[in-house]
Amino acid sequence: MTRQIVSVVGGKDASSAATYRSVNPARTGEVVADVGLADADTFAAACRTAKEAQREWAKVPPPVRGRVIASIGRLVEANAESLARLVTEEIGKPYAEALGEVREIVDTCDFFLGEGRRLYGQTVPSEMPDKNLFTFRTPVGVAAVITAGNFPVAVPSWYLVPALLCGNAVVWKPAEYAAASAYAMYRLFVAAGLPDGVLNIVFAEGAQTFEGLERALGEGTVHKVGFTGSSEVGRRIGELTGRHLQSACLELGGKNPMVVMPDADLDLAVEGALFAGFGTAGQRCTSLGTVIAHESVHEEFVERFARAVREARIGDPTQDVLAGPLLDQRFADRYEEYLTWIQPHHRVVPGSVGRISRDNPRGDFTGDDGLYYHPVVVDGVRPTDRLFLEETFGPIVGVTGFQTFDEAVELANLPGYGLSSSIYTTDPKHAFRFREGVSAGMVSVNNSTSGAEAHLPFGGNGKSGNGSRQSGMWVLDQFTRWQAMNWDHSGRLQKAQMDVVDITPDMDFRL
Ligand code: UN1
Repeated sequence: MTRQIVSVVGGKDASSAATYRSVNPARTGEVVADVGLADADTFAAACRTAKEAQREWAKVPPPVRGRVIASIGRLVEANAESLARLVTEEIGKPYAEALGEVREIVDTCDFFLGEGRRLYGQTVPSEMPDKNLFTFRTPVGVAAVITAGNFPVAVPSWYLVPALLCGNAVVWKPAEYAAASAYAMYRLFVAAGLPDGVLNIVFAEGAQTFEGLERALGEGTVHKVGFTGSSEVGRRIGELTGRHLQSACLELGGKNPMVVMPDADLDLAVEGALFAGFGTAGQRCTSLGTVIAHESVHEEFVERFARAVREARIGDPTQDVLAGPLLDQRFADRYEEYLTWIQPHHRVVPGSVGRISRDNPRGDFTGDDGLYYHPVVVDGVRPTDRLFLEETFGPIVGVTGFQTFDEAVELANLPGYGLSSSIYTTDPKHAFRFREGVSAGMVSVNNSTSGAEAHLPFGGNGKSGNGSRQSGMWVLDQFTRWQAMNWDHSGRLQKAQMDVVDITPDMDFRL
């Protein structure tokens, strides 16, 4: 029987205005779930419910909230295989990667369960006697979290776990094409004992979500927005939150460069480029955009890269493959549009382009009626090409050349994104100069552009985000606000900057 999924607000099923059918992209005839979509009213109501629930949740001592996070981690771990299987079924992520994605939730819980016992404030010296200064982290209130479906459970956990630990309530709007995975994760969170209304899940399409969010911001029931998705929608969310004097944590697209220096270990660079470019079928925000190879190794790199791509296994994501299908029909449609950006001055390797089918097979693989596409390397990309300048979510990687190191850094920064980046070199000087020069929030040395660990700051600059960072201790600044307290026990009014003892130096003193 097909799974039926609806939004849950305050612990109760919410009504739906429309239905969305989530299908298995590896066999598009297979339905994964029928998803009831809520409207803007339900979204706004969820934010009101969350605001109510947040008051009590904030009173729960942080170490106790940390215990709830610990339980979430354990529950996710105990259900890891079934959650990973569902992720594979719903978005076509190879099972090994899906398991890794689930592991990322556990890692995030492991990190934050201890934060419940830290969540440090400071004691700060006062400029006057008999006065003490303190800082406290206070929860922001309600976080509206809107996430993409390429990481349907790990990336949401980067928002949900710290937000809840810090004493916030959450309204979570996952991608509808990954609704079943999101719903399963929601149930694991709730099973850990979160009170009703502290975490709410709302399935809705973009326009209704935006309208609901706008309303909630106007009503003062949302105090932080977490958004992972396109730069275009991120811009609109940034504008909306700004208008309401709220801020958004924006994790947007990327055109992630990989510089290959003449001294690079070329086989290692090829291995990194293969995983970064075509792992997850190129559908990570950290996926490789363009390889920027030094002219002395350019040709050799492309040859070895093409060979590696040709030999890589693409197919059924329940098997041991590099990549499965694209996430959903809309991503396949958009990807086909990116393919039209290939120009006559480009050289396409290894050869086949487009959807894998009986007429356009990959070896003996004919596509199984799934959204499978040939991995494409486009050599000879120029800095003015759309393929060089814009994100191309999917299995396509550009290659361009350079002569001087400064030119490589300039090319790496040119598209104006700034999420992830990579350099392959055996010279530490180049590694550190690249780190200094590149505008990306994340830099890999002799490693793929994708696959960041869950406790380092994750986030980008430029078109990749507004400088906000997720993960590790850095995300605490997204989900708490600093409160400063001063306590004067002198028994009189001591005025700052005025009633301060002045110690006079002898400024004429010389040795
Ligand atoms: C994303 O695609 O939105 O660093 C996140 C990585 C993963 C996360 C990607 N850990 O590639």
